[in-house]
Amino acid sequence: MLNRAAKQANSRQVQSNQRHLHPNLYKIVDRHLNTHYRATVAGHNLRAYDRLQEQAQRDGRPLILDSFCGTGRSTQLLATRFPEHLVVGIDRSAHRLSKHGTLQRDNYLLLRAECEPVWQLLAENHIRLAHHYLLYPNPWPKSRHLQRRIHGHANFPQLLALGGNLELRSNWQIYVEEFGAAMHHAGQRGIVARLGEIEQPMTLFEKKYRESGHPIWTYRCQIAP
Ligand SMILES: C[S@@+](CC[C@H](N)C(=O)[O-])C[C@H]1O[C@@H](n2cnc3c(N)ncnc32)[C@H](O)[C@@H]1O
Repeated sequence: MLNRAAKQANSRQVQSNQRHLHPNLYKIVDRHLNTHYRATVAGHNLRAYDRLQEQAQRDGRPLILDSFCGTGRSTQLLATRFPEHLVVGIDRSAHRLSKHGTLQRDNYLLLRAECEPVWQLLAENHIRLAHHYLLYPNPWPKSRHLQRRIHGHANFPQLLALGGNLELRSNWQIYVEEFGAAMHHAGQRGIVARLGEIEQPMTLFEKKYRESGHPIWTYRCQIAP
């Protein structure tokens, strides 16, 4: 039986034609691990990276990336949780970012950009992260969209190069298991788990999923150099 909050929130579970890890997962990950990929970076992504790099250099604190940050609620929470770090939230949606309002602290910033080219530029410039949060990326649930998922993307090796304590969250178990399997295949050992009771949701999607009674899955790993 769903409780009242769950009935009201009523967010749909991810629907997919995939029941298990994608059969081509390792083939795709291998191809990306063995190819030097460099995409041309669009102007707005380059400008976002320049802002990040300038602020990081001026600030000097270790860097936390909040990729796919949406409205930046998690970015602000992380900035409060880690006052000795600079937290950078990235999202491609100007609309979502505009909902954030005024920045509440001096140790975070929000950038409108695609995450993948920013990872590429950070990796090329040998910038390393203390933490990397990937909270509720778009699941791309259709099987044929594997290469749009983070672990199926050509920029996956660059994400690995950024290092740090990585945490991925999703309400789609297969996404998290697949991500964990891709990380393992790339030589990184982490843990897939179901999150228990969430007292303070880190993001608006997390709040919505929690109120809808969805299980939340997480993958955590300290990326080895
Ligand atoms: C499901 S929402 C989750 C947002 C936020 N993390 C949350 O939990 O509330 C996914 C977000 O990823 C952003 N997004 C999708 N693909 C992106 C990309 N390649 N680069 C940057 N942002 C992207 C979307 O604009 C959207 O805000």
